[in-house]
Amino acid sequence: MDAKGGIELTLLQGSPLEARLDLFAFTTFGDPSKDSTFKSVDSALGGVLADIAKSESFDGKTGQSIVVHTHGRIAAKRVLVVGGGARSEFANPHIRDVAATCANTANKVGAATLGFLLPALGGSREPLLVQFVAEGVQLGTYKFGRYLTGEDHKRPLSLKSFGIFTDSKGKKPAAGPARVFAAAIARGSQIAQAVNHARDLINEPAAVVTPTALAADAESIAKKHKGALSVTVLDAQQCEELGMGMFLAVGKGSDQEPRFIHMTYKPKKKSKKKICFIGKGITFDSGGYTLKPSQSMEDMKVDMSGAAAVISAMDAIATLGSNHEIHAVAACCENLVSGRAYKLGDVLISMDGTTVEINNTDAEGRLTLGDAITYARTKIQPDELFDFATLTGACMVALGPYTAGVLSDHESLVRSWMSVAERTGEDMWRLPLTARLREQLKSSVADMRNAGDRFGGAITAGLFLKTFAKDTPWVHVDIAGPASLTTTRPSQPKGGTGFVVSTIVEYATRS
Ligand code: BES
Ligand code: MN
Ligand code: ZN
Repeated sequence: MDAKGGIELTLLQGSPLEARLDLFAFTTFGDPSKDSTFKSVDSALGGVLADIAKSESFDGKTGQSIVVHTHGRIAAKRVLVVGGGARSEFANPHIRDVAATCANTANKVGAATLGFLLPALGGSREPLLVQFVAEGVQLGTYKFGRYLTGEDHKRPLSLKSFGIFTDSKGKKPAAGPARVFAAAIARGSQIAQAVNHARDLINEPAAVVTPTALAADAESIAKKHKGALSVTVLDAQQCEELGMGMFLAVGKGSDQEPRFIHMTYKPKKKSKKKICFIGKGITFDSGGYTLKPSQSMEDMKVDMSGAAAVISAMDAIATLGSNHEIHAVAACCENLVSGRAYKLGDVLISMDGTTVEINNTDAEGRLTLGDAITYARTKIQPDELFDFATLTGACMVALGPYTAGVLSDHESLVRSWMSVAERTGEDMWRLPLTARLREQLKSSVADMRNAGDRFGGAITAGLFLKTFAKDTPWVHVDIAGPASLTTTRPSQPKGGTGFVVSTIVEYATRS
């Protein structure tokens, strides 16, 4: 399982204290003096670990860590202790940050081999913990460095092998569990690779990731999985023939041609459900004639994060396999100003015939998504329809930068989606589809207008989309906040996060 970054992930057996490693790492939850692994390592090291913990005020909190030289007292050259916070509050996804801290510390001290002791949190949690360790290692060592020319950015990272001990006594897992752990590592690697690929697509400038480039990316992913995964790319003329008046209007101001991407995964056996994931694919959002101020426009290359997520997720889904027929759809274009751009007061005719008066060219995402939803509803006819979109600043005002807004009127579907998100640890929170707010979308010249008032902006956007989803079981996820971040955590460097990829993959491939 050689990851893209070159870190090999393996399972380790035997006693951690006897393993010849550059770095041995483990977690303590709170007060280290109460931790049995800490105590046994400390006594093997003649008490230095406790001394250093004391002098550095290490008390096992999240974000804390200490690293010490062993000077040959145990087989490993160094020991790293990572704080896990309170044991009772430690959810499985938290291990991603712990693993990322281990990998990044290894690279900092120049370690090539690392052995990480999986914390004992109960056997049933272990396969998922191992998967998330594999994810955390690759997510934490991700770096978008293509355009950094300095010498220190070119130096290869030291960490080559990340091993996982699943038992502190060095007991060898039976064949069954060993297989399960190996599969968990493979699964985590695939998912992290997809997340990192989405991050690359988001972090690349809009001059590189154009609608055509996104289509080419989808095509190369499909090629990798010939037989299981296929892709259709529609150009402007083909979208015109389908009547996608909203989608085409948004892209009209750009010299970049729009592309409508549709990827299909078909299982070998008869499929259970048909699931469609739509991603917003605005490769740059200037706001159009409702021009954004420079500061708000600065990061608008990220407005294709939804498309990046669904396209990247398909790669992992095809590798891992699913019992369902899975579709990914992205209507991709650029929202710019020019003599050909769409204008305020224009009336657009959508693919389903609904007419829409434009009162804000910066509310462009819902226009592209509206036609994508109609395409999905009529051409794919899925049992379940999801859309992921960096749709509204209002959603960030409501929930902050880390949490996605989830809007749906299909109780059972939204509940099963939220339970998967909880398991993968991606922060999502439901917002209501308050019907009364529909009055904000009334128009006197068309069936509706595209933007509501300032208050309730995430909800009116959801209500706009609902018009096109009609009775199809549908969930809308507004990822405007978490798609790209300026703050970091160990498993998440600055920039595009690849948010929602892991929940999409889990949703599509489990059950
Ligand atoms: N792409 C933006 C939303 C956005 C904002 C994404 C910040 C990521 C970070 C979207 O197209 C937009 O401009 N929405 C408008 C809607 C309004 C005009 C109704 C907004 O949020 O201001
Ligand atoms: Mn916009
Ligand atoms: Zn936008």
